[in-house]
Amino acid sequence: MSTERTFAIIKPDAMRAGFTGRMLARIEEHGFILRAMRMVHLSKRDAEGFYAVHRERPFFSSLTDFMSSGPCVVMCLEAPDAIKKWRTAMGATDPAKADAGTMRKDFGASIENNATHGSDAPETAAFELGYFFRGLEF
Ligand code: CMP
Repeated sequence: MSTERTFAIIKPDAMRAGFTGRMLARIEEHGFILRAMRMVHLSKRDAEGFYAVHRERPFFSSLTDFMSSGPCVVMCLEAPDAIKKWRTAMGATDPAKADAGTMRKDFGASIENNATHGSDAPETAAFELGYFFRGLEF
C-alpha cells in the first residue's frame, strides 16, 4: 500500500465543544503523520467554494453557514492508504449511524454538526489540499 495524503477538517462544532486536542491525539494514535495544519475561520464564500460540489443540495446554505460559524482546523494527513483510512476513522457522515469508536460517533452531534471532514477520492484530496495549502507549507 503506497503512502498517500488526504485532507481533513476538525469542524467548528468540535472546536467549540473543546474536542480539538483529543481529536488531534486520536489522529496521531491512528498512525497518521501531520504534514500540514492550520486554524482558519472560513467566510461564507470560502465555505461555498470548498463545498461547491454540494451547491445543488438542499442543505448547502445551512452547511456553509455552519462551516463559517467559527474557526476550524485544516490538515494534511499522510499514511498508507490515507484517504480510506481517514474515512474509516471518521465513521459514517451521520454520527447516529457511525460505528462505535469512530470520531463522528464520539465527537459529532448531528449529520451537519459531524465534527470532521475527509476527502473521498484522490482527485478530491488534490482539490481540497490545494484549496488550503501551498506547496511550501507541506
Ligand atoms: P462532509 O464529510 O464535510 O461533507 C459534506 C457535508 O455535508 C457532510 O460532511 C455533512 O456535514 C453535510 N451533510 C451531508 N448530508 C447532510 C444532510 N442530509 N443534511 C445536512 N447536512 C448534511
